[in-house]
Amino acid sequence: MSGVLFTCAGQRVDIVTAFKRAGARTLATDVNRLAPALYHADAHAFVPAVSDPTYVDALHALVHEHEISLIVPLTDLDHGVLSRAKDRLGALVLLPAPEIVDALADKWLAHCLFVEKGIGSPATWLPDDLPDDLQFPVLVKARLGFGSRGIYRCVDRRQLEFFLDYATEDSMVQTCCRGEEFSIDLFCDLDSRCLNAVPRTMIESKGGESIKGMTIADDELVEVGRHVSETLGLVGPANVQCFREPDGTHRVTDINPRFGGAFPLPTAAGSRYPELALALAAGERPDPRLGDYRAGLYMTRFFGELILSAGEDGTLEPFAEELPQPSS
Ligand SMILES: Nc1ncnc2c1ncn2[C@@H]1O[C@H](COP(=O)(O)OP(=O)(O)O)[C@@H](O)[C@H]1O
Ligand SMILES: [Mg+2]
Repeated sequence: MSGVLFTCAGQRVDIVTAFKRAGARTLATDVNRLAPALYHADAHAFVPAVSDPTYVDALHALVHEHEISLIVPLTDLDHGVLSRAKDRLGALVLLPAPEIVDALADKWLAHCLFVEKGIGSPATWLPDDLPDDLQFPVLVKARLGFGSRGIYRCVDRRQLEFFLDYATEDSMVQTCCRGEEFSIDLFCDLDSRCLNAVPRTMIESKGGESIKGMTIADDELVEVGRHVSETLGLVGPANVQCFREPDGTHRVTDINPRFGGAFPLPTAAGSRYPELALALAAGERPDPRLGDYRAGLYMTRFFGELILSAGEDGTLEPFAEELPQPSS
């Protein structure tokens, strides 16, 4: 049975559970003992913060101790560190090369990379290099933003100047797309062959996470996913966000080289990405199945929770007993 180590497990209960169902033995790690996904794995371990110099060594020790063959990072936080440490972790790390990871983490560098590779991207400028004839509306976007944070829409020069002054983080200015936004959850093998790409609509998002959406049969978007991932040399899972402009062309606005926030939807649609990841870890070379998924499935999300109790040594465990009766 393959051992899979999840880093920065956080709230990604959905992903840990899907790997279990796919037959993996799961080990979840996080720095925070209240990360719910820890308690949904077969085993869990606490690790130092990603910025700690011993982070990689701690993971390496866990790989050895738990006979791990695959490492799956669940947030963006440690992509740079893990991508650089690929060769000394002792297990397969599903991430592209460090320069790609770095570029995708910075929206300005990502834009420059897309332009260089001929991938459609909305016109984007650094604040001190704006053209005089700028067409509005535009967005002020934090270069290192995530979860829709640090994004301000400006309809005229006055607002643009206000938000550039207001923004506390390093920002850029981007043309506002007018078309519909789509999200594509895809998976590439170790040679960056795209094995499948599942597009979905963004019916409703909250705090940058899609909470309502639908898988769609759209060959053009499947091709956008394939082309973009193979051109950039992605490895493992990725989520590509793009707009379809009124003229039918596509503009890529954001790529996360990890499982997307809406992971359960492509999974329900038959993506079988956990199975593909396990196959790669086992040295297999699965064939691409582009377009092989179920369209027309909706996802609508709700909150979940986990109740934990602390034992005498402070260790937290799921509190499995029945809820106490109110005293009369
Ligand atoms: N150029 C754009 N035009 C219109 N809307 C945009 C544009 N860029 C981003 N957005 C909107 O803002 C959201 C968050 O932007 P995104 O670039 O995906 O950053 P992140 O998800 O990292 O916060 C997108 O899902 C989209 O709805
Ligand atoms: Mg995004």
